Amino acid sequence: MKNIAVLVSGGGTNLQALIDAQARGEIVNGRLSIVISSAPEVYALERAKKAGIPTCVLPRKNYPSSQGMTVALVEKLKELAIDVVVMAGFMTIVTKDLFEVYNNAVINIHPALIPSFAGPGCYGLHVHEKALEYGVKVSGATVHFVTEECDAGPIILQKAVDVLPNDTPETLQRRIMEQCEWKLLPQAVSLFCQDRLRVEGRTVQILP
Ligand code: GRF
Repeated sequence: MKNIAVLVSGGGTNLQALIDAQARGEIVNGRLSIVISSAPEVYALERAKKAGIPTCVLPRKNYPSSQGMTVALVEKLKELAIDVVVMAGFMTIVTKDLFEVYNNAVINIHPALIPSFAGPGCYGLHVHEKALEYGVKVSGATVHFVTEECDAGPIILQKAVDVLPNDTPETLQRRIMEQCEWKLLPQAVSLFCQDRLRVEGRTVQILP
């Protein structure tokens, strides 16, 4: 059984999707072992507590640098024998200290079809504003391994939805969450926990 840590900074709807998937037995060979938040009063922590998952808060402002915070994070992960780290709306910059220990074992969800609308500055509603400004007809979500370069690690799963004529950033965000993010993230974590993801260069092969 692999130990999963979920890193959050906000509302935690993706965390909830993981909690619900676990309750349905859909995280095969994995257990949500800890939820780590970058902020003390976020709703994601309530969701974890309701589900009986231990929590921990590591505020960035308690550390002199991103590196200091990352080193503390890695210590905590090692102490808990965490196998896979899931970033589910984690808004704090981490340094390579994390990827050196958790190589191809940090998973992120991004609310667009990478490489579109990704990279520095592309987070939250901005992603959907940019997609609508550009006039794309489809958008979606991407689950990928995290590397040092922002939103550029090997892609695990992607799913698309249509952009509708009257979409606002908010309606597009909601459709992508419901139809893509909340499905893809538990699937990817379950595949990881079953050792069914093989990374070859930029490509992630999904083993049967
Ligand atoms: C999601 O849109 C996710 O794709 C992005 O941050 C948002 C987090 O939302 N990385 P939530 O906290 O899971 O509700």
